[in-house]
Amino acid sequence: ELGPYNHFMQKEIHEQPKALSDTIEQVLESGFAPSLFGDHAQNVFEQIDSVQILACGTSYYAGSVARYWVEAIAGVPCSVEIASEYRYRDVVANPKSLIVTISQSGETLDTMEALKYAKSLGHEETLSICNVQESAIPRASKLVFYTRAGAEIGVASTKAFTTQLIALFALAVTLAKFKGKLTAEKETEYLEALRHLPGSVQHALNLEPQIKSWAEKFSPKDHALFLGRGVHYPIALEGALKLKEISYIHAEAYPAGELKHGPLALVDEKMPVVVIAPNDALLEKVKSNMQEVRARGGELFVFADLDSHFSESEGVHVIRTPRHVGVLSPVLHAIPVQLLAYHAALQKGTDVDKPRNLAKSVTVE
Ligand code: F6R
Repeated sequence: ELGPYNHFMQKEIHEQPKALSDTIEQVLESGFAPSLFGDHAQNVFEQIDSVQILACGTSYYAGSVARYWVEAIAGVPCSVEIASEYRYRDVVANPKSLIVTISQSGETLDTMEALKYAKSLGHEETLSICNVQESAIPRASKLVFYTRAGAEIGVASTKAFTTQLIALFALAVTLAKFKGKLTAEKETEYLEALRHLPGSVQHALNLEPQIKSWAEKFSPKDHALFLGRGVHYPIALEGALKLKEISYIHAEAYPAGELKHGPLALVDEKMPVVVIAPNDALLEKVKSNMQEVRARGGELFVFADLDSHFSESEGVHVIRTPRHVGVLSPVLHAIPVQLLAYHAALQKGTDVDKPRNLAKSVTVE
């Protein structure tokens, strides 16, 4: 079953070009028509004025990326909340908001309960993004998008996460088109970005030997910090979660602009700092955040793309990710942080596919 791989997680990381192209295929076939999300989607899209995303863990981070996309691409207000928080809060509901639940398994109890709670508050328009056909959460939702990641066995989510991002990107673009906010130019750009993504992800996978050598430096560490900005901040969060759950190295992620407001106090020569730094509008800001780290002796591990103009120097390691695929850059940057966590865990000899204390499907509170 594992083929040439040593673990399901490794296999699933490497299956991403295929999982993504299978998921992208259904998006391309739809031409960003509402029917991509189900027969009633046209009707639902007419009713809604905003989006409320609810999810747990890695799926919550996918939702956190989506918030940037839905607002920037569709101009539709979007909030995202951890399901276990939402369900116990006195929420002031806007029934014109589309409730989007994201769940790989479709069985996560907190996400299911958050959906039920939203319905009890008067929400009728609901969409589930899920990887398991006919599981509980999609069955309880009006609309559904099934990602085509295939079965995910490793407890740490990898291909389910990146395919969720495709579903959410498709939602942002489809909403934009429906609301008459998508220019022909932008549509072409997004289609191109989708078509090129699986190939770019394959290039990112080819970085594995370099990432493995970074992992050797990481495995003796007790702590790590992950930094990103904007749409890449949730990827920093995802990188920190992957590292802690399978290697048991304590990791935290911050939006790089927050460094000065507290976490910089943690930085010394013992602290590895991973930076997601593609060449986007925030790159110069990220660079100055990196100088703050270097000035305190922190060792930098930078994922930069071919256009970011970084050079290696004392205490600054750079891996160049493929030229970033525009708006889908967060999907691409998820790959190296998965590989980093995987190889750090291998070095430590932990049970990569079944990390201690964790279960694949969390059907209890
Ligand atoms: C982390 C991970 C978990 C899940 C979370 C939600 O690698 O896999 O954080 O993302 O338990 O699970 P689903 O998506 O099945 O609702």
